[in-house]
Amino acid sequence: MTKLSFRSHAAKKFEEGSPLTDTFGRKHNYLRISLTERCNLRCTYCMPAEGIQLSPKEHIMTYEEIYTIAKKFVQMGVTKIRLTGGEPLVRKDAALILEKLASLPVQLTLTTNGVIVDRFIDHFKKCGIKTLNISLDSLHSHKNKEITRRSYFEKVYQNIILLVNEGFFVKVNCVLMKGFNDDEIIDFINLSKKLPIQVRFIEFMPFDGNRWNMDKLVSLEEILSKVRSSYKKEDIVKLEDAPNDTTKSYQIKGYQGNFAVISSVTNPFCDGCNRIRLTANGQIKNCLFSSKESDLLTPLRAGKSITPIIQKTVQSKLKIRNGMDTLDKFGQPSAHSNNRSMIAIGG
Ligand code: 5AD
Ligand code: SF4
Repeated sequence: MTKLSFRSHAAKKFEEGSPLTDTFGRKHNYLRISLTERCNLRCTYCMPAEGIQLSPKEHIMTYEEIYTIAKKFVQMGVTKIRLTGGEPLVRKDAALILEKLASLPVQLTLTTNGVIVDRFIDHFKKCGIKTLNISLDSLHSHKNKEITRRSYFEKVYQNIILLVNEGFFVKVNCVLMKGFNDDEIIDFINLSKKLPIQVRFIEFMPFDGNRWNMDKLVSLEEILSKVRSSYKKEDIVKLEDAPNDTTKSYQIKGYQGNFAVISSVTNPFCDGCNRIRLTANGQIKNCLFSSKESDLLTPLRAGKSITPIIQKTVQSKLKIRNGMDTLDKFGQPSAHSNNRSMIAIGG
C-alpha cells in the first residue's frame, strides 16, 4: 500500500483545493457577516415572542475586528460578503463598516428589512453595492403588522421602489406560511411585471423558538402548482440558475422581473453550498442548521492565529443540513432546539 492511501479523505481533499475547500470539494467563497443581534422589527418566524438574550456589548465584534476577520477570509479565498443581522443597518457604525469592507476585493451586498435603507442610498453607491435583499412577507399592511409586530409596510414598500429607481437590483424575500400569505403568491409574482426585481419565495424553516411545524410549510411543488394554474404553460419560463444559487428561478414571459423559490426544506441545495457564517459575537458556523460554533473573537483578541480554526470548521462541515439529510430528521422541532434563533444567525 502506498503512503498516500493512509491519508484521510479530509486531508487529501484539503490539499486539492483552496484553504476553504471542504471534504466534499465545496469551495467556500461566500462569507455572511451578522453585524448585530438587534432589529427594529420582531418577525415571528425569526424571533421568539419573548425576545432573545442579547450578547453583552463587549462580546460583539468591533468594526476593526469585523474588518480584520473579513480580510483574513478574503486572503483565504472569499470573494463575496453579505452583511446581515438582526437588521444590519441599525448598527450605529453600519456605514463605516460598509466603507471598510468595500475596500476589500469582494462583491459586497446586504440583507435588510428595508425600513431605513433610504438613509443609506449614497453610501451604497459609494461602496459599489449593486444588489440588496429586502424582506417583505405580505403586500397588505395589516398582515405585515401581524408578522413583524411593527407598522412599517408603507415605508418598506416605498423604499423598494426608491432602490429600484436609484438603479439597484432588489430581491424581495418572502417567507411563505400556509394560511397566512400563500394566497398572495400570484400578487407577489405580479409585482415583477412592472418592477425589474426578483421575488423570492422562501420555504419556512425551523429555528429555535419560531413555532415551526410542517403544516405551515408551503413547498416548492405547491408554489409551482399555484403558478401553473394561474399562467399559461408557455408563459412560465424556467431561468438558468448559477451553480451556487440557492434559488430555482422562473419568469413570466414579458415581465420585467422574475421570481424564484428557495426550497431549503423540501429540496436542499447543499451540494453547491459555498457559505460560511460569522455571527455578531464572532463565532463561525459552517452550516445554517449547525448548532456548533467556533469562536474566532477570543483568539483574535488574544493575538492568536484564527486560520487553523477557520480551516477546521470548514473541514468538519457535513454534507447536507448538518446531518439532517431527510425531511423526517429535519422536521423534528427538537433537532433545532440547540441552534440559535434566526435573529442571531442572520439567514
Ligand atoms: N424561514 C425562512 N426564512 C427565514 N428568514 C428568517 N427566518 C426565516 C425562517 N424561519 C429569512 C427572511 C430574511 C432572511 C434573512 O431570512 O426572509 O429575509
Ligand atoms: Fe428583523 Fe429580519 Fe428577523 Fe424580521 S427577519 S426580526 S426583519 S432580522
